[in-house]
Amino acid sequence: MNRSLGLLTGIVVTALFLLLIGCEDENTSVKSPNQLEEEVSSEKEPTSDDTIKIGFSMDTLEEERWAKDKELFREELEALGAEVEIMVANEDAALQISQVETLISNGVDLLVVVPYYTETAAAIVEKAHLAGIKVLSYDRIIKNANIDLYVSFDNEMVGQLQAEAMTNLVPKGKYVYIGGAITDNNAILVKKGVFNILQPYIDRGDITVVYDQWTEDWNPDNAYKNMLAALEANNNQIDAVIAANDATAGGVIRALKEKGLEGKIPVAGQDADLAAAQRIVEGTQTLTIYKPIRALAKEAAERAVQLASGEDVEADRVINNGKIEVPSVLLSPIIVNQNNIDETIIEDGFHSREEVYHP
Ligand code: GAL
Repeated sequence: MNRSLGLLTGIVVTALFLLLIGCEDENTSVKSPNQLEEEVSSEKEPTSDDTIKIGFSMDTLEEERWAKDKELFREELEALGAEVEIMVANEDAALQISQVETLISNGVDLLVVVPYYTETAAAIVEKAHLAGIKVLSYDRIIKNANIDLYVSFDNEMVGQLQAEAMTNLVPKGKYVYIGGAITDNNAILVKKGVFNILQPYIDRGDITVVYDQWTEDWNPDNAYKNMLAALEANNNQIDAVIAANDATAGGVIRALKEKGLEGKIPVAGQDADLAAAQRIVEGTQTLTIYKPIRALAKEAAERAVQLASGEDVEADRVINNGKIEVPSVLLSPIIVNQNNIDETIIEDGFHSREEVYHP
């Protein structure tokens, strides 16, 4: 075949190809990533093997509760006939994104995410939606993203319950606030709840918050150092401490112990960790906020399977995540102190009586 004929054929083939692309351009090039996301996301049906497969992308297992979430969520999903693949990012935002890519390429039908960094996790949602997979935010919301559903506890109520109990106990004086991790939207909501209650006391001059610090990565050692700094800056004259969870409360109480103040200054926490329950019965911690993880895992599992099956999902609240009004399910937290620890966390089997009273 002589060159001119070959060239001609080549031109024709290329022209045909460009023509084809030209058509596609017309149809798709003007669509933004969001439009693509939205368009694709409703397309994926469960794979030929009808077993629904859920991808559970967790931030960490550092805090005691997450081990419970991991096992109880798996149990609830398996009870519904679904299977689950779980990956833990160990407080590494980039690793969480690459783990999600793996879950997507492993063919999950739905992604359930506990984001490490609420601000950067939006990339996870975009990747999932581009693959036609919906996203359920578990316990912590993903900011600025088109997430499909949020299931958690009412985190603002957590802070309000803490502060209501503490202001009943200490209506006047110097308070220290040991916040959670600024990377976690829950820490922001819990703090908002605390100050919803404290503000009127502050405005009246009854209460002064003499120290207020976030705790990087919710790390108890950071909380311990911050509490030492608060004590030193105030000559150990502190009347109450509100800590965003029991792990940070443990760091606070370690610092109080070093100053001989353990059990003398009321301390509030969250999560009903075993160590906190033991501290409450021995009197070195005043209260915690109990969040029945079984209930959260059950609500999330039921809705995850419905979402993955393309069914409509019931959600009676909406939370604005900076981009959309996210359909949400928020469970009620429960305050726990020495007076009701038996009929709450022990009766529920969250911890055994033996573990709490006879460590
Ligand atoms: C929050 C969660 C708390 C606490 C914390 C540390 O998002 O709501 O229960 O444990 O993370 O992991």
